[in-house]
Amino acid sequence: MPSDHPLHRSAFGLRVRIREDNRSVAHVTPLTPVPKLSKEASLGCLRTLQRSGVRQVFTSALRATDQSFFCELGFTLHEELLLLGHNFSTPLTPPLRPTRKGRRSDWSEILAIDEKAFPEFWRFDRPALLEAIKATPTTRVRVNTQDPLTAFAITGRSGRLAFLQRLAVHPQHQRSGIGRSLVADALLWSKRRFVSELLVNTQIENVGAKELYESMGFSKKNVGLAVLQWSADT
Ligand SMILES: CC(C)(COP(=O)(O)OP(=O)(O)OC[C@H]1O[C@@H](n2cnc3c(N)ncnc32)[C@H](O)[C@@H]1OP(=O)(O)O)[C@@H](O)C(=O)NCCC(=O)NCCS
Repeated sequence: MPSDHPLHRSAFGLRVRIREDNRSVAHVTPLTPVPKLSKEASLGCLRTLQRSGVRQVFTSALRATDQSFFCELGFTLHEELLLLGHNFSTPLTPPLRPTRKGRRSDWSEILAIDEKAFPEFWRFDRPALLEAIKATPTTRVRVNTQDPLTAFAITGRSGRLAFLQRLAVHPQHQRSGIGRSLVADALLWSKRRFVSELLVNTQIENVGAKELYESMGFSKKNVGLAVLQWSADT
């Protein structure tokens, strides 16, 4: 797709991704600060998506200050999320379970774990996995050392901030300590790179993830996050 095509992945400061498994659904992520986005260009992008057969568009997780821009375009609330942060003021514990670097040849297994671990809306397809890996200048992908793989984590770093982009353990292997080990690895990696805060967002109803993060020293941030949705049919 040429870079001036309205659906180019970074058109008008928005990265656009149409789902591979459902071409009527697209996801948009602001690549520039939201106040710099153009309302007209963004509406044009939505109209082009609509003409291409897209019926629903979802934003990435947005802070409250960025939500109003999308609300003015006709987006409404899809789901509120919890944002948690770890500022390294409490001691870190080393991972108890071994992990190794996740390679490109692991992607199919990573996607299979993701499919089992997440509800349909949140599932990664290959472009979404690539997007998560490329979202930050530096990224660490870790998997457990079992064969076949049963768990993975993707952590990204941009300057002094790091983001736990994805964490998933196959349902048949949960509650055996691998999730905790992957988070411990992400924390140690971030600390060694002088990161001031590791951020993670999760669904409000995701009790398991919330318990895991809080038990490891993450605390809830005051800023809420939300995914917004736009529908071609309203
Ligand atoms: C959340 C998740 C990664 C945890 O992985 P895991 O390997 O099962 O976690 P661990 O065995 O290391 O558990 C560590 C701690 O997390 C908490 N925890 C994990 N699952 C829990 C659950 N279902 N209910 C309550 N607490 C839970 C507990 O405090 C647990 O410690 P304990 O077993 O000593 O009580 C896993 O359940 C998962 O992949 N869920 C689906 C995908 C997901 O939600 N990812 C995170 C999105 S932000």
